[in-house]
Order: sequence, then C-alpha cells, then structure tokens
Amino acid sequence: MLGHKKGARIQGDEKEMLQARRTFLERGWYQPLSDAINQQVWEHLQQHKLIGPQLALVDLGCGEGHYLGRLEASLGEKAAAQHNPLFGLDIAKDAVRMASRRHRNIRFLVSDANRKLPFSDGSTACLLNIFSPRNGAEFARVIHPTGMLLVVIPNQAHLSELRNYCRLLQIEENKSEQLRTSLSKWFRMAASQRVMVPMRLETQSLVALVRMTPNYWHMSSADWERLESIPALDVTADFQIMRFNPIQAI
Ligand SMILES: C[S@@+](CC[C@H](N)C(=O)[O-])C[C@H]1O[C@@H](n2cnc3c(N)ncnc32)[C@H](O)[C@@H]1O
Repeated sequence: MLGHKKGARIQGDEKEMLQARRTFLERGWYQPLSDAINQQVWEHLQQHKLIGPQLALVDLGCGEGHYLGRLEASLGEKAAAQHNPLFGLDIAKDAVRMASRRHRNIRFLVSDANRKLPFSDGSTACLLNIFSPRNGAEFARVIHPTGMLLVVIPNQAHLSELRNYCRLLQIEENKSEQLRTSLSKWFRMAASQRVMVPMRLETQSLVALVRMTPNYWHMSSADWERLESIPALDVTADFQIMRFNPIQAI
C-alpha cells in the first residue's frame, strides 16, 4: 500500500459498509449532492483553464467510487474535460477493489491520506474530500496553484429525524468552522454551499444509510432492531460543500 508504514493498523471501511453504500447511492438518493459537486468542479476547471491531461482530479477517501464515477460521466458529456485523468484513493482495499471493477477508466489506489500522497507537487487540478479524513499539508503540496479543494461534510441537522429511533454519532455544531480553522494554514475558503435532500426512505434504504456510515461501528443491537422496525420515514440529508483555494495562489 502506498504511503503506509509497516506494522501500523490499517483502518478504513469494511466490506459490509461499502456494499451498503453502493446499494444506497445506486438508488440515487444523494444525486443532488453529486450533481452540485460536478457542477462546481466543471465551473472551476473551465474558469481557471485547468482542463488537460497533465492535471489530475483526485477523490481522497473515495470509498466504492460513486462520486468519481458520476464525475467522470458528467465531464465526459462535456467533451474536452475528459482529458483530465481521474484518481481515487482509499485506505480500504475492498473499497479500491469495488471501485476499480466498476469504473475501468479511473485509476484507484490503496493509500493512506494521512501520509505522503502519491502525487507530485502541484499536479492536481481538483481534490475531492467527501466525508473522509483530511491532510491539509499534503493537499496543499499536491494541488495546482489555481486548483480547488472541495470538502463535503454533514451539517448538524443531517438525518436528525432518525435520531428519535437510534443513537447516531453526534455532529459538532461548528463543524464547518473547525474545518476552516484546521485548513487555514494552507487554504482559504472561497465558497460554501448547503445542499439539503428530503427523502422518504423505506426500511431497506434506512438500514443501508446507517450501515454505510461510521455509525456502523457504534450502533447497539437494540438500535438496529428499532431501525429495522420502521416501515418508512421522512428524513433530510443536510450537507455543506466547502470550496477552498490554496493560499499560495491568492
Ligand atoms: C464515510 S466514508 C466516505 C466514502 C466516500 N467518500 C463516499 O462518500 O461515498 C470514508 C472513507 O474514507 C476512507 N478512509 C478512512 N481513513 C482513511 C485514510 N487514512 N486514508 C484514505 N482513506 C481513508 C474509508 O475507507 C472510507 O471509504
């Protein structure tokens, strides 16, 4: 594995989580989020003339590859953009295996985002970081001076309706502020977009939704039982897409 120290514990999502994520995402529930990401990437590439084979588009902590796959399709429709090579990185081997089987034209690597990234300085036009670990120093090293970092986080109200049924992990009130601060040495926030997705989910989707998140490791069997007993529920996904520019370019 790239960037991984021998003997260290390998983390990352388990197969069951990845399969749940694929089941849930394939049903299109988070399409508004994916569409908003694709729109921002396309606008930035065009505006800063970053389209071309020399600059990569990278998803760090890409999971089973859903967002990159949709980005590839979206850019493919816009002719010239297809020349930017796409890469997905994840620490979980199962994630990389699932992603590369599904998306043959995207390169997926097993790599630890907390260590040195397998890209040369300034070689990436766009870094995506969707509900995944961040490494400000390395993101700053590999990003092009006019490149863009897109970070997606859940807002505090994300799936709040579900909290009446099971104990989900808490989301900090000031998560976006903390994120800005943690990246402030290398990046300045350029824009922030809230995306809310109301959904009416039946049991199978509700279970997949919880199983695909870190709640998978924390739910009690009583929590799972309560969740599985809900026939259908209206829930709202609530995300923040934060766009950052590297400070060196300002
Ligand atoms: C909540 S999931 C999000 C996956 C994907 N971005 C999505 O939204 O579908 C977090 C992902 O980060 C990966 N991950 C966790 N720690 C990592 C690390 N140190 N380096 C790279 N990937 C990591 C996990 O294996 C998992 O696929």
